[in-house]
Amino acid sequence: MTNDSGSHAVRELAISGGSPAFSEHQYVGRPNLPRRHTLHDALDEIFDRQWLTNAGPMVNRFEERLADMLGVEHCIAMTNGTVALEIAIRAAGLTGEVIVPSFTFIATAHALQWQEVTPVFCDIEPTTHSIDPARIESLITPRTTGIVGVHLWGNPCDVTAIQEIADRHGLRVIYDAAHAFSNTHQQRPIGGFGDAEVFSFHATKFFNTLEGGAVTTDDADLAERVRLMKNFGFTYYDQVEHVGTNGKMNEMSAAVGLAGLDSLDDVIARNRANYLAYRDNLADIPGVRLFELDENERNNHQYVVIEVDRERIGLTRDEILVALHAENVIARRYFYPGCHRMEPYRSYFPNAGLLLPWTTEIAEKVLCLPTGTSISLESVGTICAVIGDIVDQADALQRLDIDTDAMQVPQYGALKLEGIRLQ
Ligand SMILES: Cc1ncc(COP(=O)(O)O)c(C=O)c1O
Repeated sequence: MTNDSGSHAVRELAISGGSPAFSEHQYVGRPNLPRRHTLHDALDEIFDRQWLTNAGPMVNRFEERLADMLGVEHCIAMTNGTVALEIAIRAAGLTGEVIVPSFTFIATAHALQWQEVTPVFCDIEPTTHSIDPARIESLITPRTTGIVGVHLWGNPCDVTAIQEIADRHGLRVIYDAAHAFSNTHQQRPIGGFGDAEVFSFHATKFFNTLEGGAVTTDDADLAERVRLMKNFGFTYYDQVEHVGTNGKMNEMSAAVGLAGLDSLDDVIARNRANYLAYRDNLADIPGVRLFELDENERNNHQYVVIEVDRERIGLTRDEILVALHAENVIARRYFYPGCHRMEPYRSYFPNAGLLLPWTTEIAEKVLCLPTGTSISLESVGTICAVIGDIVDQADALQRLDIDTDAMQVPQYGALKLEGIRLQ
């Protein structure tokens, strides 16, 4: 913006008393709903058939479509990603200790701990934010049975290096692919790497089944165990041959998933356009680095992630976050402070952080910015301009002594509710 004298007019930031850049909250990821009429037909089918759950035709169709799309032999739809992880971990026979990144959603660690398998936290690689294969081997003990990698932000782990380590030590590999649905690695779909991969189709994911998830694998025995475990171990209607739980997906969720698959490419195109607009608009802002994804692979672009450099900007990530929230830009600091600094892990392993320097550093730097189908290209431009203004006005903001604790608790509750509100 230029004023009458032709010089750059300084916009007063909302945190300094100006008007917010947006009148409504801009969220990291509002739910995507499938086209109404597609879903109506499917719901009519369910109502007519009155088959609501227990391996119904919708779930079977959903599993077949996913297996086909992901190029895997077996896909087992689940009630959510966390139960899918728990079952995959158990079905793969993981016990004792399992090596896992700390920089992930807490469910990855909890899925192990829930079954009394000890998560051994491994540091990440600073450019990919994913588990660093070079650090895995030093964490292997006689009790280690596996590795759980996380394709963070949809960016595949170094699956070749991880598999090589696993093969050498006789370990099993499970991938938490909650972020990576429909993505590829070396043109091969995520879903067929390791012993099994696990997806989440939670309402906040770009592709959702309200709640839901899936386990995919090419291992027939593993698939069979997962199928048994997700249905109480039943082999026949009154015969139980295995320990199990209830991990089944219901017919309504599968119908939402099938309808959602029809608009998947449109959603990805919108996400990608936003990502590219962020990339262009953020390029010249000093101290802000976009987490870039490999252009040679298919990406769902559901997360736009930046790292902010405290030294260069003169503000902490949390101060920037508070300034953004004041503008109604509800950016989020994902996976802060790292699983190892949350309970019960903080008490169990009080010194874990000593081996996790990159996790600590990246968790202090990362911000996820609003994207998804509810965020227009114009909004992306405004958000980037706001970030530029914050960086430009860092000196003045330093003097405000921003209270970063104030935003944490109350905002979180509100975000959780807003994030899953259907429109
Ligand atoms: C990395 C990661 N793992 C696991 C999960 C758990 O999935 P769900 O919420 O479907 O249980 C999520 C998402 O919520 C996630 O982001």
